[in-house]
Amino acid sequence: MKVLTLDDFDLKDKTVFLRVDMNCPIDSETLEITGTKRIEEVIETIQSLKESKVVVASHQGRVGNKDYTRMDKHAKVLEKLLNKKVKYIEDVIGIAAQNEIKNLKNGEVLLLDNLRLCAEENYEFSPEAASKTIMVSRLAKLFDLCVLDSFPSAHRSHPSIVGFPQILPSCAGRLTEREVRNLDEIMTVAKAPHVIVLGGSKVQDRLEAIQLLIQNGRADHVLLTGVIGNVFMRAQARIKFPLGIEREEEVVAKAHFLIGEYPDVFSTPVDIAIDKDGERVEMDVREISKGDKIYDLGPKTLDFYSKLIAGAGTVFISGPAGFFEKENFSFGTKGLLETVANSMATTIVSGGHLNSVLKSLGLTDKINHVSTAGGALVLYLTGERLPMIKALEEAAIRHRS
Ligand code: 3PG
Repeated sequence: MKVLTLDDFDLKDKTVFLRVDMNCPIDSETLEITGTKRIEEVIETIQSLKESKVVVASHQGRVGNKDYTRMDKHAKVLEKLLNKKVKYIEDVIGIAAQNEIKNLKNGEVLLLDNLRLCAEENYEFSPEAASKTIMVSRLAKLFDLCVLDSFPSAHRSHPSIVGFPQILPSCAGRLTEREVRNLDEIMTVAKAPHVIVLGGSKVQDRLEAIQLLIQNGRADHVLLTGVIGNVFMRAQARIKFPLGIEREEEVVAKAHFLIGEYPDVFSTPVDIAIDKDGERVEMDVREISKGDKIYDLGPKTLDFYSKLIAGAGTVFISGPAGFFEKENFSFGTKGLLETVANSMATTIVSGGHLNSVLKSLGLTDKINHVSTAGGALVLYLTGERLPMIKALEEAAIRHRS
């Protein structure tokens, strides 16, 4: 591996900044964590640091969104999973946090509050500029080592991800190590045709990655579902009214451009299911009217997509096909995952939502690589060097020279 791992360092007595991604699904009413997979994934790294003073840091949600919360509930889950006390402080870079860090003893774990409480963490920086932010310049001097294990946000050049490695010796945590090793192995054996099944709601991120995937020969067919599917249907004028999503005209224009540029690559649903007073009503895409809540794809689309998946050499699926949390709209998400799991292709499933459905179907073992990363994984597969990986590779070069 081109990056250093925990095995390259003497960890005893060290104060460690551990950047993880515990960005979990949150119930919009109760603000409770509804899936703890991403917290489970950081346990191995924390356990590997049992002789160190460990400061765990993560973001949760985006400022302004309902899932933007404090980290107190994450601390409780962490405590339960580690089966030991986890200190939690409602601070990120203030005196209170600094004092807690200074007072840590070997074997203790401290969780900072949501990193995005710190304004700088909501912006992208060059690594050098990130190292000069108030966050990094204040905190770096309190640490001996930076461990980056936030693979699901490896595509973000935020100060906590690319800033600390400029100053501190840095290495990958166990999750990042595993992800990079597995993905690199898979990509060497991955065969065409490459079928990408994309859903979910982070449209902007996905649109940027789609073009790179196609250009780099990693997407022969792109099967669209979820909100991104609706955006493409609007770009094809099969949906004739606004969808009411963020930066809609911009994303529809980009989808329109992509369809024009790569006319044979994209497939969009032929039938969908809407929510009518809590009931599932299936219809042809041509029958959708303004105000319809499109919550799932229909059986003809599942059939059509399943045939393309069956002929694939490699399948990558990311993002749910609809409002899968509601039982009567989980048909598409479950059906696609079943088809992927039973295909002969090399298979990669990405994102926390799909992972939990896969688990509930008992199909996790039938997939070649399962990752809780979403946008970061899509970009990784394009062959782009992600900012976090780049920061780790450069830190390794500095360390070895
Ligand atoms: C994710 O869930 O994709 C990561 O946690 C990154 O979150 P972000 O898209 O809000 O930066």
